[in-house]
Amino acid sequence: MGILKDCINKKKIDSTPVWFMRQAGRYLPEFREIRSKNTDFINLCLNPELSKEITLQPLKRFKIDAAIIFSDILLIPYALGQELKFVKNLGPQLGELNIERIINTSDNEIQNKLNPVYQLINITSKDSTMNNKDLIGFIGATWTLFVYMLNRTSPKKKVDENIFNNPDQKKIFKKIIATQKLHIKNQIDNGASLIQIFDSWAGLLTEDKYEKYIYQPTIELVEYVKSLGVEVICFPRGIKSYKEFCDIVKPSAINIDYETDPKNIADNINIPIQGGMNPAHLLLEEDKMLRSARNYLEIFRNHNYIFNLGHGVVPETNPETIKKLVDFVKGYK
Ligand code: CP3
Repeated sequence: MGILKDCINKKKIDSTPVWFMRQAGRYLPEFREIRSKNTDFINLCLNPELSKEITLQPLKRFKIDAAIIFSDILLIPYALGQELKFVKNLGPQLGELNIERIINTSDNEIQNKLNPVYQLINITSKDSTMNNKDLIGFIGATWTLFVYMLNRTSPKKKVDENIFNNPDQKKIFKKIIATQKLHIKNQIDNGASLIQIFDSWAGLLTEDKYEKYIYQPTIELVEYVKSLGVEVICFPRGIKSYKEFCDIVKPSAINIDYETDPKNIADNINIPIQGGMNPAHLLLEEDKMLRSARNYLEIFRNHNYIFNLGHGVVPETNPETIKKLVDFVKGYK
């Protein structure tokens, strides 16, 4: 267990905790090396030894405080029997959704399919690299998984309105939530010390849809994680009001995106906050990049703040930039 958990629990810590979404990924040459020999992304996620190595890669380079397991949110639709392919430059492609097949998938089948993820967590949490560090497990939020399962590809900026007329929506949500709980429980039982819920497509919804598609299912999941004695960080990317989300859903901590005004967040939210910096700022000259980071650190000076970005590290990022940024955050007093 590490200082992320301490920060969330409002214990005294002597530096700002820091990690990055997509810290294990294509910007790292050592990741690309493994990836070039493993062209099937899902098989790579389901290879505990290799995914452990990838999970630990950024910790070997940078003084970061947490590892996030190398996996993917779409392993849930995969475990529910939906066909999943990652096509180069096209992103994820899912097969036709067969409602009967999904609803009738047994817990046994799900756990058997996802067992390599649990092995990955088990062996990673025991590695000496993880001493005093947090190991973050994760799931995609119910709405975001539903979008992928029905749209069957990355939706970019719009969602097909038909999605709101799906007659099986309730049944599908119920099954996704049951599967998410199973997946969370197994991650925690195997050594995940924190859970993050990624609602990457929250920003596609209008506010009249929040209650049904975001708040209700996320409250159920947040309560479930807390009932297991573990803290949960939510990232409802692009939501109109993070404050309203926090008041209703009550996560242990909230990750903000880079478009939301951090001052407004600092003034209105008093639970621990994570992230915010624009990943594109990691492509700027060093002084501009550090100015952007300093802005977040100063705004959240009097908050329990975990440094991170407002979305994932982009593949064009120079690893040296991450190193400079981490050293800056760690040295900031
Ligand atoms: O380092 C980490 O953050 C941990 C690993 C991780 C991955 N995916 C690995 C990955 C995590 C936490 C995710 C979550 C995830 N996956 C989300 C939520 C966060 C977000 O980005 O909004 C979503 C929406 C997905 C679905 C997904 N997986 C997409 C849309 C893509 C293709 C686009 C892209 O960013 O490459 C993936 C593939 C993927 N997942 C890669 C990695 C490292 C790239 C694989 C490759 O081509 O080498």
